Amino acid sequence: MTILLLGGTSEARELAVLLQDAKVRFVSSLAGRVARPRLPVGAIQIGGFGGVGGLRAYLGEHRITAVVDATHPFAEGMSANAAAACHADGVPLLRLERPGWSEAPGADSWHWADDHDEAAGLAATLGDRPFLTVGRQSLSRFVVPLAGKAAVVRVVDPPEIELPDPWTVLLSRGPYDVEGERAVMADLDVLVTKDSGGRYTWSKMQVAHERGIPVVIVRRSAVPDGVETVTEPGAARDWVVRRSTR
Ligand SMILES: NC(=O)c1ccc[n+]([C@@H]2O[C@H](COP(=O)([O-])OP(=O)(O)OC[C@H]3O[C@@H](n4cnc5c(N)ncnc54)[C@H](OP(=O)(O)O)[C@@H]3O)[C@@H](O)[C@H]2O)c1
Repeated sequence: MTILLLGGTSEARELAVLLQDAKVRFVSSLAGRVARPRLPVGAIQIGGFGGVGGLRAYLGEHRITAVVDATHPFAEGMSANAAAACHADGVPLLRLERPGWSEAPGADSWHWADDHDEAAGLAATLGDRPFLTVGRQSLSRFVVPLAGKAAVVRVVDPPEIELPDPWTVLLSRGPYDVEGERAVMADLDVLVTKDSGGRYTWSKMQVAHERGIPVVIVRRSAVPDGVETVTEPGAARDWVVRRSTR
């Protein structure tokens, strides 16, 4: 059997280690968005498949027996394509997705937005020095509503769009600790983020709580209908191993 592991997350890298230890044949797939990606162990393919049709062709050509979609909770296009391709070809699909923060302490006091545009509008009303931790690809949605604000933008790679003059760019990659976030957020007055979940980027939420600054957070979309979902890499490894011993 050969597993296709759709990655780009810490959970996907953890699962790659577990599959290698379990002697399962697998290939990890990355979108190729960041300049220096953290690479998982094992075989890797980098770059998109070319939509649902391209993914179906890949599944057939590489005799993929099951797919684990361990992409980021906001990589919604890839998850939708995986669901459509696997459904069309009868390939078993598992979603590995870390839990979100909707039940976390303080979540009921945050400003929940359905999308980045709504988040940008809310942030504009809540502060003058927003901290934008929404990822490089979403920044364009904030440019107009927050053009006059002294925003600090944290991204892994430099933004590809022109940003307003008052904005400052911080290039860095998590995980982030609480001390570091206290320093970064000392002068900022609203945190804008998305419900990525997990531990690696939680510290900023704790610091926002300590400082009493408002949090604007973009909601996740639901997992595509009918897709079995687990939250832990170990559970995904067990799902794969069960299939290989049938
Ligand atoms: N969105 C985030 O906030 C975020 C945060 C951290 C990490 N990531 C990771 O970054 C990658 C891109 O995220 P995104 O939000 O740009 O995804 P997306 O909008 O859902 O995907 C857009 C297209 O990128 C390609 N793609 C995405 N993930 C891929 C993968 N793992 N392997 C091969 N192709 C992939 C696919 O191209 P084709 O249609 O050509 O197949 C997909 O249709 C994902 O792997 C995700 O796990 C995303």
